Amino acid sequence: MYPRQLTDDEKAGFWQKPLDWKKGHPNYLNNVYQLLNGIQAMDLDPQATILEVGSGTGWTTEILAGLRYRVVCLEPAEVMLDAAKERVSRFLQAHAMPQLATNVSYHCTTLEEAELPDHFADAVLFFESFHHVVDENRSLQQVARFLKPGGVLCILGDANWIPGLKEQEEFWLEEMKRFGTLESPFTHEYLMQLLATYGFADIRRHHSVNGLVPVEREHEPVSKFAGHLDARYVNLVTARLRGEGDGQEAMPDQVAADETKPMSNGGGRRASGWARLRSVLREPGILARLVRKASRLIAARR
Ligand SMILES: C[S@@+](CC[C@H](N)C(=O)[O-])C[C@H]1O[C@@H](n2cnc3c(N)ncnc32)[C@H](O)[C@@H]1O
Repeated sequence: MYPRQLTDDEKAGFWQKPLDWKKGHPNYLNNVYQLLNGIQAMDLDPQATILEVGSGTGWTTEILAGLRYRVVCLEPAEVMLDAAKERVSRFLQAHAMPQLATNVSYHCTTLEEAELPDHFADAVLFFESFHHVVDENRSLQQVARFLKPGGVLCILGDANWIPGLKEQEEFWLEEMKRFGTLESPFTHEYLMQLLATYGFADIRRHHSVNGLVPVEREHEPVSKFAGHLDARYVNLVTARLRGEGDGQEAMPDQVAADETKPMSNGGGRRASGWARLRSVLREPGILARLVRKASRLIAARR
């Protein structure tokens, strides 16, 4: 997301996300419950280390930090990372735990280019960010490198791409046109295949359910309570990196899955706008350079 494209209201979201004042607060509840459900599903030890990829302005980070996890944030947009530092620090101050600020570190980089140590993380979390990576093979290779054997991957806030569904494609094309970022969501099948390729086991797709269930409805299927976060429409996924003794070790160098990603209409690759944008964005370092340039432009306009 390029902040210079945002309206003033949207910029206020740097500090307010995920609050929403609509009736029933649908965005707020969907986001918060998704994150809390993800934290519960990861089932981490207290003070575990979480690598948060695409941490943005830090509404997720402040919750993770407040729960006393160690958080390593990766975010290529400097302006968002700066907002996150301020936001997390204010949050920890307001909740009388400023000492936890040292548990959070910030790295201005893309996942593909991140230079972090091998096997330091107990978990890797993406919230609305996995569909932005330019190179999903390199990204998962990196995730497999950063995770400890047996560590958990949790992907939240990603749509399931349904090839041929015009509404989805039109929405994402519009987003790309407006923000100049890559919207490259995955089909369930492709994502499952990628995760298996990079050494993940116990790969699970989830529905995310918000709130209270009236006892009269206890026999209804879970998907009825999930609404937009029904697993048919979203990729809410947890997986565990295979470890020693699991039979099959991680295969971080394998890249074959890239060739099989459907690009549109369920077919193979075609020279669509998506493919062209992807090929431009594959240039090493391009994304981080674009994001830094945008950050500098905004700073200059202030
Ligand atoms: C939709 S925002 C979500 C931000 C945050 N997780 C949240 O929920 O507010 C997606 C974030 O992913 C970041 N991003 C985009 N491409 C990335 C990449 N290749 N590696 C890491 N982060 C990336 C963007 O800069 C942006 O902050």
